[in-house]
Amino acid sequence: MKKLCLFILMFSFAVVAMLTTAQAAEKIEIKIAGMKPEGEPETLGMHKFGEILAKLSNGKYDVKVFPNSTLGKEDAYIASTRRGAIQMCATGTQVSAFHPAMAMLETPMLFDDLNHARRAMEGKTFQLINKGFPEKSGLRMINAFPLGFRHFYTKKVLNTLDDLKGLRLRVPNIPLYINFAKECGIAGQAMPFAEVVTGLDSGVVDGGDSPLADIAATRVYEKAPQITLSGHILVIHALFINDKFYQGLPDQDRKWFDQAAKESADYVWDLLAKLEVENRDKITKGGGKIAEPSKAFKDAITAAGRRSWKLFDDTVKDPVPAKAILESAEAYRAKK
Ligand code: G3P
Repeated sequence: MKKLCLFILMFSFAVVAMLTTAQAAEKIEIKIAGMKPEGEPETLGMHKFGEILAKLSNGKYDVKVFPNSTLGKEDAYIASTRRGAIQMCATGTQVSAFHPAMAMLETPMLFDDLNHARRAMEGKTFQLINKGFPEKSGLRMINAFPLGFRHFYTKKVLNTLDDLKGLRLRVPNIPLYINFAKECGIAGQAMPFAEVVTGLDSGVVDGGDSPLADIAATRVYEKAPQITLSGHILVIHALFINDKFYQGLPDQDRKWFDQAAKESADYVWDLLAKLEVENRDKITKGGGKIAEPSKAFKDAITAAGRRSWKLFDDTVKDPVPAKAILESAEAYRAKK
């Protein structure tokens, strides 16, 4: 009897050990890189994606998040995702280098508000922009979520758009942004996001434009405290996955990735308004001066934004022309 009990006990141990080993062997690590610091919508979205994927897959996928350019600046980690050195990354219109339509995620002065943008990104506009992208880039965009509308941060008060003239304003190194700056009458200083703070410290730039989340997280308001709420571009970022890796996933697993992508984007869309209030508060408490732009400023920047759309007419043709993408976004405008 004693021997039988001992045998059962050892057998149970062996079964538990085998199961544990099998589970450990099944665990797959997913590395995901981003450019924004902890606490920002992009990083919150990446963490949420990992959390949901782990839950859906019962721990099979273990997502390791590398925010704040810790795996390199945006161009470097996008390249790592394309060649499969890492599986995923978060970024935005930087990928328009492979597929110009991607720049239209952030068409200046297009969306009336977050709800308008959300309808477009959950609908046809997202699909039209995405068409042809995997073939050209080796990446797949699996969701889209907002980081916030961009506003100027400068050392001096901006009364009219002409007040931007002569300032050394940082812009992302993306044709859309360089072109938009030109339409505003300025020559933007192109630099990656990770260099903005040192650029301000060294005086290479004396201002720029960013969503409130970036302005608060990087504390640029300490150097350039005048925040003009122009809201000229809604920054849309997305999760991107190496397309070969995605296509190679078992069907059930691919569904988990898709579901985690959708639910993590929903989470950021739902959270953004609350984050904006918190960030306004943080900026004001830190000495930033937040101001609504004058009507003259608003009218001038709206006109500059509309003029900048010409870039899309010239560059976005294949497989979906710019006009069709713009029309689809316009159709999601709320009926007045
Ligand atoms: O989608 C591109 C946008 O994020 C670039 O802006 O300021 O984050 O470099 P920034």
